[in-house]
Amino acid sequence: MLALSRTITTNQDGPHRDVVKRVERALCHPLRKPVAAHTRAAFEQAQAWYLRHGEGGHRPLILDAGCGVGLSTRQLAARFEDHLVIGVDRSAERLAREHGEVGDNALLVRADLVDFWRLALAAGWQPARHYLLYPNPYPKSSHLKQRWHGHPVLPVILALGGRLELRSNWRLYVEEFALALEHVTGVTSPVEAFAPELPYLTPFERKYHASGQSLWRLVAELPHAPELVPGEREAN
Ligand SMILES: C[S@@+](CC[C@H](N)C(=O)[O-])C[C@H]1O[C@@H](n2cnc3c(N)ncnc32)[C@H](O)[C@@H]1O
Repeated sequence: MLALSRTITTNQDGPHRDVVKRVERALCHPLRKPVAAHTRAAFEQAQAWYLRHGEGGHRPLILDAGCGVGLSTRQLAARFEDHLVIGVDRSAERLAREHGEVGDNALLVRADLVDFWRLALAAGWQPARHYLLYPNPYPKSSHLKQRWHGHPVLPVILALGGRLELRSNWRLYVEEFALALEHVTGVTSPVEAFAPELPYLTPFERKYHASGQSLWRLVAELPHAPELVPGEREAN
């Protein structure tokens, strides 16, 4: 039986007033957190797989960031057969759940995205598509730093470029992300309600939709722009 999901409860009545302040901070201060050894090892394996299957960079790449059990990774791989799809999640338990075969053009990786994204950018990865599907909303006002648009890694996410798609059941999360996106890149992207296509792309999408919640998304076409990242800017 499918568990129903409660709507988000938050103490915010609009976009957090510190979104731009957090973004400015991320743009000015390089993220100095060392890359964890386990994510470096996972990235090296992913890089080897990408080089082996990537036909010399001719096969477009899709990143499924925070893929959970990897249902979306599997579906995207089936939908975009000529692409390579890499799903990344830090939860070994979620990744291990049995959801059927992973296609030849897909890979599931256990890693911390904060490190994985930085390694991917440093290695010159340029995803054609990049999905952020139902990231944890962190609904309390004090959680802003944990939302991707309030996190110091934001410039790296945007610098990778490609068609970035964020989906959430929390409109405010997507609205705040749109504000941050515009502040960093100048790209404006409408926040729209949408009816999910079937089959559902992810288990969270299915759960929220079955509970009667509205779903929100934002899509932005971004250039590859490593110069957005402060450490990179100084190095060039
Ligand atoms: C709400 S779940 C959504 C999962 C999936 N996209 C879906 O819609 O079913 C958010 C996922 O992001 C993952 N996640 C959050 N922060 C992460 C990080 N720093 N690195 C890797 N995965 C992360 C969690 O482990 C979790 O599986």
